Amino acid sequence: MDYGNLAKIAIDKLKYSYAPYSRFHVAAALLTEEDKVYFGVNIENAAYGPSNCAERTAFFKAVSEGERHFKAIAIAGCREDYLKTPAYHDESLEDFCPPCGVCRQVMREFCDPKVFDVILVRTPEDFKVMKLEELLPESFGPEYL
Ligand code: THU
Repeated sequence: MDYGNLAKIAIDKLKYSYAPYSRFHVAAALLTEEDKVYFGVNIENAAYGPSNCAERTAFFKAVSEGERHFKAIAIAGCREDYLKTPAYHDESLEDFCPPCGVCRQVMREFCDPKVFDVILVRTPEDFKVMKLEELLPESFGPEYL
């Protein structure tokens, strides 16, 4: 699976995001080393605290299915207002959506930061690929324990 297709999956899954409070929709498509894709969306909660980000949803789905080896994650995010506009379908997301710090640390648990690619998506053709290490330098991981 190339990164353009992975980006497309993330954009397509934005419609499943459950974000009635922030009205900010996020979707992530996680690629395993064996080229399987697990997607996730953000899932908010009336009590706010139990809300879960899209990236962690994708990781927790995959890990709980037995997956342990990952190549990349594509992330797309967008305000709800913008999702309803034709520009969303025809042009591009407004901006890249970088993963929050907690999600970066969850990625770090399962991925080599020098190798794992984080793909920030605006369209299937316009995306930015970063190593996890760039987003989470000097990180703490399982090998310290
Ligand atoms: N969110 C994600 O799902 N992933 C990110 O990387 C950034 C933030 C969600 C959390 C919350 O539901 C909404 O976006 C606004 O913060």
